[in-house]
Amino acid sequence: MAALNRRAIVAVVGAGSMGAGIAQVAAAAGHTTLLFDMSPAAVDRAIQGIRKGLDRLVSRAVMTPQARDELLQRIKPVASLEELADARLVVEAIVEELSVKQSLFTGLEKICSPDTILASNTSSLSITALAAALARPGNLVGMHFFNPAPVMQLVEVVSGITTDATAAQTVFDTAAAWNKYPVHARSTPGFIVNRVARPFYAEALRLLEEGAADCATIDALLREAGGFRMGPFELMDLIGQDVNYAVTCSVFDAFHQDKRFLPSLIQRELVDGGLLGRKSGRGFYDYSLSAEQPLPCATDAKKAPSAIRIVGSLGVAEPLVSLWRQAGIAVTRTWGDANILRAGEALIALSDGRSATQRSADTGEANTVLFDLAFDYTAASRIALASSDRASVKAVDDAVGLFQAAGKTVSLIDDAPGLVVMRTVCMLANEGSDAVLQQVCDAAAVDTAMQRGVNYPLGPLAWADRINPALVLKVLSNLQQAYGIDRYRPSQLLRRKVAAGVNFH
Ligand code: NAI
Repeated sequence: MAALNRRAIVAVVGAGSMGAGIAQVAAAAGHTTLLFDMSPAAVDRAIQGIRKGLDRLVSRAVMTPQARDELLQRIKPVASLEELADARLVVEAIVEELSVKQSLFTGLEKICSPDTILASNTSSLSITALAAALARPGNLVGMHFFNPAPVMQLVEVVSGITTDATAAQTVFDTAAAWNKYPVHARSTPGFIVNRVARPFYAEALRLLEEGAADCATIDALLREAGGFRMGPFELMDLIGQDVNYAVTCSVFDAFHQDKRFLPSLIQRELVDGGLLGRKSGRGFYDYSLSAEQPLPCATDAKKAPSAIRIVGSLGVAEPLVSLWRQAGIAVTRTWGDANILRAGEALIALSDGRSATQRSADTGEANTVLFDLAFDYTAASRIALASSDRASVKAVDDAVGLFQAAGKTVSLIDDAPGLVVMRTVCMLANEGSDAVLQQVCDAAAVDTAMQRGVNYPLGPLAWADRINPALVLKVLSNLQQAYGIDRYRPSQLLRRKVAAGVNFH
């Protein structure tokens, strides 16, 4: 299969924020792009908006005035659906309602040629359901762009049961020719991104509900240790609590209320109270000018022990050892499979999904202090620690001092199992693993989707490989044990990878 020829006419129906962006992308790729909206004013607004955006590129010398003018000339406003007859690809970005989209597609089917591909930018409706009313359901493909479409690189190419593989491949190749990163996905609730991303919000909400840490600390940990561009609370405030809550509820309901996607009571309370985030002036954070922004918690400076002894390996956290050596701390190592380190009174270990208190009860080591996962232990500026309820003050201080000596701001959080970054990343990987198991997409597509669609620093399955799938499974099993609920049940595919001793990639 090949991409649409650049001379092929593309049409976009719906000239709101997504339709305008998609029209810009198609026109930038050289296609004559017809733009239709039931409101002609929306088409005018869209073209003005595109022009404004392009003017900014010209003023920054990213685009020449000539290229801007040529691109704008390729976007042709049209006043009726009938004028879309010659389009080879029609991308729909109208209101998110099944019956309205269905009647648009049945109308288009009568107007366009039998081999015109009809694409929907829906983010939540079933492609199979959208195609149900069509005479040629094989021509209908999901083409899910992310907002803003000219900037975000991902396109999910979604196939329903009746979608023709050749039509899906043409959309895939066309998206690639438009300089996007397309991934194939089967039509299932949330497709890839809106499904796999759920734990990013859900684990943070759960930690907040349990009082493990406050919003500012959880956000700072996911940014500064996790390497995510934004923390979950600031991101939910940006997206809008109503929008984010609605996506969670729609995925939860679509999966027959699978507890894994259980919506949060705190978030519902914000929605019910109209505290929708930035757009309403207040969500998890207060955006009024007079409001003081809360600071993430940071533990006071403590003295680091002068020597530490590692038993076994710190695994993914090994880069810390060089930082400690650089700080003048003497490091000795004995080989073994304990994978812990002793520093002063403290026994320190990477989280395995148990709380520090549970781990100290299991091992008889009262002074257990656990540390969190980091995306890059050398670059991370912050790390979370949690101590056993039985740990001495001295043991906690020794652990805090040790991580401060490695240049980290330490956020000592309440003793939540799996800490913050570790449980979030393990749950993201678990969801990605289930998406692969359930044939939604392959492992490479999960990682591309999360990196290109929502800017994750690493795809969740590549991250699981980096952590070690066996540890990911252990974290999830321990979380499931700790909470006694189905939400943390490990994916069967993850279990198989661990049993076979292989990675996702
Ligand atoms: P929007 O509300 O900004 O724009 C929708 C446009 O469609 C409006 O201009 C409206 O006049 C027009 N319209 C409605 N019914 C129509 C019809 N029957 N025929 C012709 N035009 C019609 O919506 P937005 O945000 O651009 O979303 C459009 C679609 O894209 C939805 O399906 C949405 O779920 C999906 N989407 C939205 C994303 C976002 O972040 N906003 C991201 C990815 C997908």
